[in-house]
Amino acid sequence: MEAVTLDRAAATDALVSVRDLTVRFVSKEATVHAVNGVSFDLAAGEVLVILGESGSGKSVSLRALMRLLPARKTVIEGDIRVAGQDVLAMAPRALEDFRGGVVSMIFQEPMTALDPVFTIGTQIAETIIRHEGISRAEADRRALELLELVQVPSAKRRLGNYPHELSGGLRQRAMIAIALACRPKLLLADEPTTALDATVQIQILLLLRKLQQELGMGVIFVTHDLGVAGEIADRVAVMYAGRFVESGMVEEVMKRPLHPYTQGLMGSTVHAGLRGVRLAAIPGAPPDLARLPPGCAFAPRCAYAEEACRAAVPAEKRPVPEHMARCIRIAA
Ligand SMILES: Nc1ncnc2c1ncn2[C@@H]1O[C@H](COP(=O)(O)OP(=O)(O)OP(=O)(O)O)[C@@H](O)[C@H]1O
Ligand SMILES: [Mg+2]
Repeated sequence: MEAVTLDRAAATDALVSVRDLTVRFVSKEATVHAVNGVSFDLAAGEVLVILGESGSGKSVSLRALMRLLPARKTVIEGDIRVAGQDVLAMAPRALEDFRGGVVSMIFQEPMTALDPVFTIGTQIAETIIRHEGISRAEADRRALELLELVQVPSAKRRLGNYPHELSGGLRQRAMIAIALACRPKLLLADEPTTALDATVQIQILLLLRKLQQELGMGVIFVTHDLGVAGEIADRVAVMYAGRFVESGMVEEVMKRPLHPYTQGLMGSTVHAGLRGVRLAAIPGAPPDLARLPPGCAFAPRCAYAEEACRAAVPAEKRPVPEHMARCIRIAA
């Protein structure tokens, strides 16, 4: 009884609290079960990295947190609270203030998020004006500060540049500046460094880590790269077929992965230098999300699978506090 009360208290304090999130895409042909009961909390100032193969539901989960999924044909259920606000109940106007003001997102390819016909300076300033209604002069001043904050060299001159005039790394910095323009409490990052070459990737990662600490932001960061996770994460969650199959503090999960899927992903790379190491390939393919099996979705690829694995989705087990995995082989 007491545990339940404590749990509730923790959930209220959290910057992000997600409970039993499911996302389905319904069409005449099929229902795609993209997210299937995801629950987690994130404290202010914490970095959660979501790891998983292509198609495991990482981007859909991030988009759900900002209600950025196509309204038609998308069924979202569960509970999402960000900074105390009930995201799934939000009216359109409130949602507009919420996006950018409380939570913002950076993407893998900045060209898709930046507008080619406006200068970087205008795009940053307009974002601030839209949310805060301040004067253009004041917004321009803040835009310069922001470009300096994300360490763009010759920031004043760069304000007048169009996106195509910038290198990939500078464009990514400009997108981060826009995302930070209204001082969000939560930053969502969907593979923001994968399109960049290795050196620039590391610079952007270090920048994000620094900004996150200075601004005390919560960050949810999606990546395929174990090295990136090791570099930036406080916590990691491993996603498979729309579920978190394992989560915990990064050192703990990397040192003692509990789920056979996580163990497979880490392969033999766990103790080697991790930077740039993509997730190890595991034989077999992920399940068709339109035809999810009733039990553990990893069972068809799992060397340890037994009958019970195919009967029902394994419950969450926590052999040590804060380290969760869904596998029937785990005692506790
Ligand atoms: N709007 C949509 N309509 C129908 N299906 C969708 C839609 N958006 C995503 N999906 C499906 O949902 C599943 C999860 O997609 P998601 O983009 O979250 O994967 P991901 O883990 O981000 O993969 P990647 O690492 O390749 O980016 C995929 O099967 C995808 O095809
Ligand atoms: Mg994705």
